[in-house]
Amino acid sequence: LTAMVNSAVGEILAALRASGDYVSGEALGNELGVSRVSIWKYIRNLKQHGYVIETSSRGYYLVSSPDLLLPWEVTGWEQKVRHYGEVNSTMEVAKELAKKGVEEGTIVVAESQSRGRGRLGREWSSPVGGIYCTVVLRPKVSPAYAPRISLMASVAVARTIRDLFGLPAELKWPNDVLIGGKKVCGILAEMEAETDELKFVNLGIGMNVNCSISQERATSLRDELGRDVSRKMVLGAVLAEIQRQQNVLTTDDLLAEWKKLSVTLGREVRVASLGEEISGKAIDVDSDGALIVACPDGSVKKVFAGDCLHV
Ligand code: BTN
Repeated sequence: LTAMVNSAVGEILAALRASGDYVSGEALGNELGVSRVSIWKYIRNLKQHGYVIETSSRGYYLVSSPDLLLPWEVTGWEQKVRHYGEVNSTMEVAKELAKKGVEEGTIVVAESQSRGRGRLGREWSSPVGGIYCTVVLRPKVSPAYAPRISLMASVAVARTIRDLFGLPAELKWPNDVLIGGKKVCGILAEMEAETDELKFVNLGIGMNVNCSISQERATSLRDELGRDVSRKMVLGAVLAEIQRQQNVLTTDDLLAEWKKLSVTLGREVRVASLGEEISGKAIDVDSDGALIVACPDGSVKKVFAGDCLHV
């Protein structure tokens, strides 16, 4: 039911925006195939969400829309998005939903997070203006492919930033998206699996978008472009790219794309992994997403997880 409502509301907004003038309840009703009373209820719902809509004898006129990632604003994903104001973490919300068996592709979106989580137990600062979402995936692949899902997401985000804004987004192993060496997006995956079957992989994406960053090693799209951008457009594009990339999840194309965008390969790195520190030259990423490091003593080490410093 909710999914249908979201689509209908999206259609009403599209009609009001396309017209730029008053549109009668009757015309809207005809377009959607519902009664004028339903239209009136949808309009009331929109007003409750912060849309300013004027009503006269000529119908409805859309004055302004709130800057929120409401389901019906994320074109193409109206049926999948679950929108929240502030949550502790979209990872928590998504985990509960996934355990309850929510549909593959469900997207938990929050305007801000009070306890946003980063990799390695870190905190992820999540002020209003960013994009914070977790996508529930149920890929029919062996758990061995799980690490590739975050690689895939980082490729999707970098490609989107390049395509939409022409900014030179790059990747730092394992899955940070950087612009000019500064982090603009982080990715966190959590999964539940049985020996030979993935139950779900929750893919968390945190993007610095319309916020100003004061940290030296981070940036935002606003900081890079000197203007705000449409978050709904960015989110819709990232989701579409993830959908596209899912088809190459098990192929070499994914690794090829990741390598093309990587700034880690060929660099001297220091990786802290499981209490051990490995220094050397990053020479490759293998099929399960592990970083291959050539150490000065001639040994070659494979690093599965950890923090990578370009030195
Ligand atoms: C990193 O450490 O680079 C990963 C950051 C991941 C942040 C995102 S924001 C949406 C989702 N919810 C969270 O609490 N974390 C992820």
